[in-house]
Amino acid sequence: MSNKTDETFVNQLLSQMTLEEKLGQLNQVNPGDRFDSSLLREGKAGSLINASGALTGQGFSDSGSAELSNHFQQLALESRLKIPLLFGRDVIHGFRTVFPIPLAQAAAFNPHLARQAASVAAREATASGIKWTFAPMLDIARDPRWGRVAEGNGEDPFLGAQMAGAVVQGFQGDDLSAPDALVACAKHYVGYGAAEGGRDYENGEISEPTLRDIYLPPFRAAVQAGAGTLMSAFIDLNGIPATANRRLLTDILRGEWGFDGFVVSDWESVKELIQHGVAEDEAHAARLALQAGLDMDMVSGVYLNTLGESLQRGKISIEEIDEAVRRILRIKHRAGLFAQPFTDPLRAPRDLLTPEARSLARDFARQSMVLLKNDRDLLPLKGFRRILLAGPFVHARGELFGTWTPDGRAEDVTPLDEALRQTAPNSVELWFAETSDLALHLAHHADAVVLLLGEHPARSGENCNISDLSLPPGQAEFVQAMAALGKPLALVVFAGRPLAITSQVQVVDAALYAWHPGIEGGAALGEILFGIASPSGRLPITFPRATGQIPIYYNRKNSGRPINPQGEFRTRYLDLPPSPLFPFGFGLTYTRFEYSNLTLSSDTLRGALAISAEVTNIGACAGTEVVQLYVRDLIGSLTRPIRELKGFQRITLQPGESRRVSFTLREEDLTFTRADGAFGVEPGNFHVWIAPDSQSGLPGKFRL
Ligand code: GLC
Repeated sequence: MSNKTDETFVNQLLSQMTLEEKLGQLNQVNPGDRFDSSLLREGKAGSLINASGALTGQGFSDSGSAELSNHFQQLALESRLKIPLLFGRDVIHGFRTVFPIPLAQAAAFNPHLARQAASVAAREATASGIKWTFAPMLDIARDPRWGRVAEGNGEDPFLGAQMAGAVVQGFQGDDLSAPDALVACAKHYVGYGAAEGGRDYENGEISEPTLRDIYLPPFRAAVQAGAGTLMSAFIDLNGIPATANRRLLTDILRGEWGFDGFVVSDWESVKELIQHGVAEDEAHAARLALQAGLDMDMVSGVYLNTLGESLQRGKISIEEIDEAVRRILRIKHRAGLFAQPFTDPLRAPRDLLTPEARSLARDFARQSMVLLKNDRDLLPLKGFRRILLAGPFVHARGELFGTWTPDGRAEDVTPLDEALRQTAPNSVELWFAETSDLALHLAHHADAVVLLLGEHPARSGENCNISDLSLPPGQAEFVQAMAALGKPLALVVFAGRPLAITSQVQVVDAALYAWHPGIEGGAALGEILFGIASPSGRLPITFPRATGQIPIYYNRKNSGRPINPQGEFRTRYLDLPPSPLFPFGFGLTYTRFEYSNLTLSSDTLRGALAISAEVTNIGACAGTEVVQLYVRDLIGSLTRPIRELKGFQRITLQPGESRRVSFTLREEDLTFTRADGAFGVEPGNFHVWIAPDSQSGLPGKFRL
């Protein structure tokens, strides 16, 4: 929150600024190769975005670097008031040390690890002259056709909020002015994941209760964690583009949540208000956004070019401009930019790609992979002398990064085949085949086969939406042909989204979802395949049986004719079972866990209620279980989800070991947006589960 020093400094500086200088602070520029650096000397830019590529070949590296930022900062400090630039960049899941994609990070159900990874990313990015990242991406996503599902934390608001708080704290640390602190930007505020058809940039319709209870909680958590900035979404939400939506940007964000940082638009989304059909021209677009509470214009230039004229024509007030400038100066001051505008160029060689960072990336990749099937305990691979690994990912390097990794370098990655060789036992002979023809030939002489399939990162991320969730062309046929040979068969899928691998799962013995696992993904995969590590990931998003099942998510409403496969006139498809392929929260391990003795401290929740269960490792090896807590509010003034995640704990148990796992439920955990529009609880009966996933578990009940 603001402190007196900030405010005194900011208001004192503001009082000296000309209108031109004020508009300059609201203007973010992408310094492409035709960049006119006089903008900086004249104080007409407050921030540079992705200052990579600029001046390449003139002695500067091709990505964010301290020298490049210091060069531009020097020009900005030649301006009259010497207001430092804020350098922004997409540091989404790592800078040079690329961590698993955020969806994979969510699968680890380990916010602490996400915080550590964000802290590494902050150290590496700030050493490279970057002080502001456009992350974390917090969009709830229920439609895997949408390419950006890779960048978020999946479908659940509770998990999303836990990850939001952890990543913001990891980026920003306790002191935003520390040299290795990175200003966070919670994006894309809000509802971007509801784009119709999973088509990026399409409009979305979200009811008020769903907006409040599903899409907003991760953003609220980010603000509560002290996020310095937010980014408005491209989306036309319920008829009002988020970039010009005063209720979102001012009434909720500032009025209800007390946010005192600033909001940046998405790329040219201010100017795009014209295309949306709510603004007649650029000046109108700029006024709509500014008056809604949008403070900085990302690269469209309409703030710089038109707000002065709108002011002169009395269409906006100087107070509205001042308030946006004040918010930006406040974050710059809080980030220590006035005191230390330059980056020490000696940091990067020391702070980038350290062995500790690589080790953390490997641990994160291990914890994020999800074991979906393991018949006959095929995995971990034991007792096989010759193992064939086959598919387009056998030599993967940069392909393991996933989307949004502008500063990752493929040469930093051990090729997948080499990484697997390094982790395999000496007694095992590994063969590799990239093409299906060679693989089908070699398979006859192999003792077991592992297919390395899935989607290239180019099919994932912004505007990479797909209409069919099947594996990419040719891969389904490859699996069927390989399965026909009757060898022990495991499938590893690399992807940025859930894929409808229904028919593949039926014919393989084991299936492991590796997502896009980052710079150390190869070694992590090898450790899991050969039993050096055990899989512990759980699905942060429902896996549909087919594209036609979308939308399908666990926290659904019951309907008046709930799912009942036997029942007539029940919600279902004629050609598909009503259940998903794999539910939210699902994941296997190399051992087995048994849940018993659910206990509640009372049958009525007054203030707080303790709920616990015994979890026992009944298998032959150690394993990590993600124990989950779900509730169901049976009767509400609005219909209520059949399950809501309210807690989770990762526990590691040795064979035969038991542990009582406890959760505490409080009244505020049961709040929701009621029919009267208020956010609160309603007395009544609740069901509760302590469970391994969102479809099973030990049932209990209590009253509120
Ligand atoms: C893109 C994305 C946004 C990103 C920004 C800057 O269009 O929507 O997530 O941070 O532009 O690259």
